[in-house]
Amino acid sequence: MSPEISAAASSAMSRRLFLEKLSSVGGTALVLAGMSALGFGIESAMAAPPQLSGGGGKRILILGAGVAGLTAAYELSNAGYQVVVLEARTFAGGRSQSARKGFQLKELGGELQTCTFDEGLYINHGPWRLPYHHQSVLYYTKKFGVPLEVFVNDNDHSFINFTKGSGPLASKPVRKQEVAADIRGYATEMLAKCVQQGALDQQFGAGDKEMFLAYLKREGYLEGKDMKYLGTDGRGYDENPGAGVDPGPGKASTPHSLADILHSNTWRTLGSVANFEQQRTMFQPVGGMDRIPAGFVRNLGPVIRYSAKVEKISQDPGKVEVAYVDGKGQRTTVTGDYVLCTIPLSVLRNIDIAVSDRFKKAIGGASYAPVGKIGLQMKRRFWEEDHQIYGGHIYTDDPDIGSMTVPSTGFQGQKGVVLGYYNFGGNAAKVSAMTPAQRMAFAAAAGSKVMPAYGESVENAFSVGWHRVEHNLGGWAQWSDEGRRDDYPVLTEPDGRIYLAGEHLSYLGGWQAGGVESAWQQIAKIHKRVHAA
Ligand code: ALA
Repeated sequence: MSPEISAAASSAMSRRLFLEKLSSVGGTALVLAGMSALGFGIESAMAAPPQLSGGGGKRILILGAGVAGLTAAYELSNAGYQVVVLEARTFAGGRSQSARKGFQLKELGGELQTCTFDEGLYINHGPWRLPYHHQSVLYYTKKFGVPLEVFVNDNDHSFINFTKGSGPLASKPVRKQEVAADIRGYATEMLAKCVQQGALDQQFGAGDKEMFLAYLKREGYLEGKDMKYLGTDGRGYDENPGAGVDPGPGKASTPHSLADILHSNTWRTLGSVANFEQQRTMFQPVGGMDRIPAGFVRNLGPVIRYSAKVEKISQDPGKVEVAYVDGKGQRTTVTGDYVLCTIPLSVLRNIDIAVSDRFKKAIGGASYAPVGKIGLQMKRRFWEEDHQIYGGHIYTDDPDIGSMTVPSTGFQGQKGVVLGYYNFGGNAAKVSAMTPAQRMAFAAAAGSKVMPAYGESVENAFSVGWHRVEHNLGGWAQWSDEGRRDDYPVLTEPDGRIYLAGEHLSYLGGWQAGGVESAWQQIAKIHKRVHAA
């Protein structure tokens, strides 16, 4: 063992002993605090805000009323700070928006869209789902009484429509459950054959082989002594079983061939377990994602100045000053002790800000993702009525569409809003270059290839290309490895009296939790500094 490794191992050991001791005297809470103090990284997944008190009336200027700015405003106000929030829009929430009747958006170079969805319908065209482990966001939904419902992030009965492969399953909608059952069936059958023939005997300890075969049998629905995959009811029936004198279990469906599945590429949508960010069931706020910012606003005093477009951020050793233009075109300045700026870097890089050249260079260090979404109001829930799909995504291999998503709410109602595309990068740029009417026609035509009633059911639409939205200029920050290494750490520390926060300063890029947790980190730093002074 090298001296470095040995030192690391022994320090890990002593840390563990220390934590075990903490556990024996103080239970889990003390262990968690101890882990945090020892730098085990608990801070990066905080479940509750830092406990601050004694702000003593210091004045913090918060730039941006997205979830990062709102989090900071709420916690700092409660801790006795004076806060002023400058928000360029006429409403709070940043990207956490829901388009419903009357909601307006004018993209740069685009025409004004006014959402004409029926009363009660909406699309979350920004953030739309919450993982169970984003405890920081869930902390506020619970605190503010924002009810949650399940977001169906995967649905076995939904379709995969891949057109770039070959064979009979290419270019036609296939139920995900068929692909999943068949490919797992064939893969486990082949593996079982190898195991039964003794080809893998070296891999097994005493008794393992039988257990492993038992697992393969269950995993792949294998039958008989020779462990064959012959299909399973989980892939669906051609004719479902029902009541009556005929005891037969309907008409069983026939598996696709392995080759047909492989060549169709449909298997690319599968993973045997969900990944960390995207689980099969997630959450969404009942009534729209904008209920989260609304929760903050309900619980904040009148500290937000809307329609306030920041033009200049200045500082000297004793104070900060921010110049902004208000809704009437009047230029106003406001002074304070510190600035917490949550403006996306894509926008901040065009604002006059008094920071070092190194800090300015770092502000330019991230690129921003072009991202597009469209909500299509459907006059009939044909995905439920004709196809029995209740929530979840329809997967395509057309990158101009990405996936289509049917609503996780309003089941069995009359109408619903379907997410018609979710595209990224060059594809998002291409599609967003269309007019809103062209985007709607494009999305309607794409959907009709999967479900015949799709196009004829579209009543109206609301779309966004986030890279064309004035106060965002992108869906979320994207850091290259070099940017993460060189620029990102610069921005997580203050430049004089100016601090930054937002999803762009987290490893939870493109998630509201990144904004919340980044705000928690930065206000804790400001607070510490105020108390050290
Ligand atoms: N967090 C974003 C999503 O859920 C990227 O789609």
